[in-house]
Amino acid sequence: MRKLISIVIIALIVFSCAKKQTKIINKEAIIEFKVDSLLALMTLEEKIGQMTQVRHFDNITDDEIATKFIGSVIHTNGPNPGEGAAGWQAKFVSLQKKALSSRLGIPLLFGVDAVHGQNTFDGATIFPHNIGMGATANAKLVEEAAAITAVEAQATGFNWVFSPCIAIPYNEKWGRVYEAFSESTELTQVLTKASVRGHQGDLSKSNTVMATAKHFIGDGSTDFGTEGGNTSISMQEVYERLLPPYRDAVNEGVGAVMVSFNTLSDKSMHAHKEMITGVLKDSLGFDGIVLTDWKGYSRFGENDIINAGVDMVMAVDGDLDIFQQGLKKGVDSDYVSQERVDDAVRRILRQKYRLGLFEHPFPDANLIAEIGSPSHREKAKQAVRESLVLLKNENKALPIDKATKKIIVVGEHANNTGLQSGGWTITWQGKDENYSGATTILEGIKGIADGEVIYDEFGSDNHKDADLIIVVVGETPYAEFFGDVGDGSGKYQLTLTDEHQKYVSKYASKGQKLIVVLISGRPLVVTNQIDQSDAFIAAWLPGSEGKGIAEVLFGDYNFKGKLPHSWPNAVEDFNGKFGPNFWDTSITPLYIFGYGLNY
Ligand code: BGC
Repeated sequence: MRKLISIVIIALIVFSCAKKQTKIINKEAIIEFKVDSLLALMTLEEKIGQMTQVRHFDNITDDEIATKFIGSVIHTNGPNPGEGAAGWQAKFVSLQKKALSSRLGIPLLFGVDAVHGQNTFDGATIFPHNIGMGATANAKLVEEAAAITAVEAQATGFNWVFSPCIAIPYNEKWGRVYEAFSESTELTQVLTKASVRGHQGDLSKSNTVMATAKHFIGDGSTDFGTEGGNTSISMQEVYERLLPPYRDAVNEGVGAVMVSFNTLSDKSMHAHKEMITGVLKDSLGFDGIVLTDWKGYSRFGENDIINAGVDMVMAVDGDLDIFQQGLKKGVDSDYVSQERVDDAVRRILRQKYRLGLFEHPFPDANLIAEIGSPSHREKAKQAVRESLVLLKNENKALPIDKATKKIIVVGEHANNTGLQSGGWTITWQGKDENYSGATTILEGIKGIADGEVIYDEFGSDNHKDADLIIVVVGETPYAEFFGDVGDGSGKYQLTLTDEHQKYVSKYASKGQKLIVVLISGRPLVVTNQIDQSDAFIAAWLPGSEGKGIAEVLFGDYNFKGKLPHSWPNAVEDFNGKFGPNFWDTSITPLYIFGYGLNY
């Protein structure tokens, strides 16, 4: 009897799995049928329109959304679409109505750089940047953060995010190290899968978004860590170390891949047919949208990039007509084949059907209430706690006794949510002032300490009677090439500024217990400051929930974070051609990848 029941159960499981599988196959087959049917009706102008992404305010009137058959709208640096989330939704609803009023009524994709939460919206929940999520090494948490980001992105009118960045940074001089999870391919793979899953969930639901794996490929491994520079590592290394996260993203069903600014062995990635068509589409089987990066059409070879396999063009900053007219000429002269254009449009329509946009083209107004909600912030606070890496803890400096009588907190970063959040926060280059709904590290400390907490912003006071000093120092916000270190003569170095070094040395010389919290988008050379302190914490760029830091410093939670990058010892480590990537065994890191203490 028992045997019979088991057989029946197994049969039912097999049947239901098969049914589910058939349902998925049927759904996809129906989508392909719809795509082909729609494609068959389209003129060349309509197809080129679908391949076009514009900014909502830039070189285009609202009516031209319909007359130029635009396929997608991007929001990034620039004026906000409206007042508050309802205003943002209203603007995108009105643009969507324009698109739907066109002959074929194909809905728009609305894309945004939501790279650590819906960070373009003042009041959203802002998570630690990916380097901090890498330090958590917690795939479940990354998935949950991505799902929350999807909800807040949808709540502000978007169905597409340009995230996750799945670069593998090999040189800390690169200004985008913090946008990526880790120097480790394996860790990046695990977190990539989680991120794509979290964002996309059941893609046809109104609270999920299409994700973008970026920037394909070699963005984080350019020589000297130059944004958009040349990646000259061997192709074997590209395949073994950089490609695996893309394979995983594709297998996870990622909807889009953004091409990178860099060249690969001196060949522009935007025009790199072997990599885009050969590797990404043909070998990995990617059937979604390949998108250019900023002004990719005019910058990287016009119709050559379409021939290489690019499907949608970020036609911004004056590129709209250049692209639409240029591609028309290219097709008319047979430089670009009709098949190539059809393949591009097929991919775009396929994703629009998968997103359910034809049935539900408008954002859900009910989601607005979820922006910055207590449960979202609680999750972001958990991410902050788990991202903190304890590098040193001597003389029982940590955890801090809540009854400590007098604590001095030093440094601008301690009381400024803009500074603690890095680039891509509210604006492209980030902010150096507070933004809505976020809490500072100082607020967190004040909320948890029972004794007196005094803020000495610039380390200028003398507090000989203090029991404990917490110095918060680090980098000011930057994004993209602005954060490149280059030869070190510019704004950003791989060491702390002289002022910040002084905050630490001044208080170290007084002999009180000294805890240093480092806010940075990458490992910095802080060997002296580590020596001078009793405890030292790498806090990365934690985002809106500064309280999470206090909860760990005061022992409500233990440290869990582990280094997602090897930690450099000296500035000289950065002088090699490829910088401190630590593949080179001649470089000895101060702390190895995966290091992190706890209580
Ligand atoms: C960046 C991309 C970003 C795009 C749109 C580019 O400059 O490289 O990561 O998604 O701008 O804002």
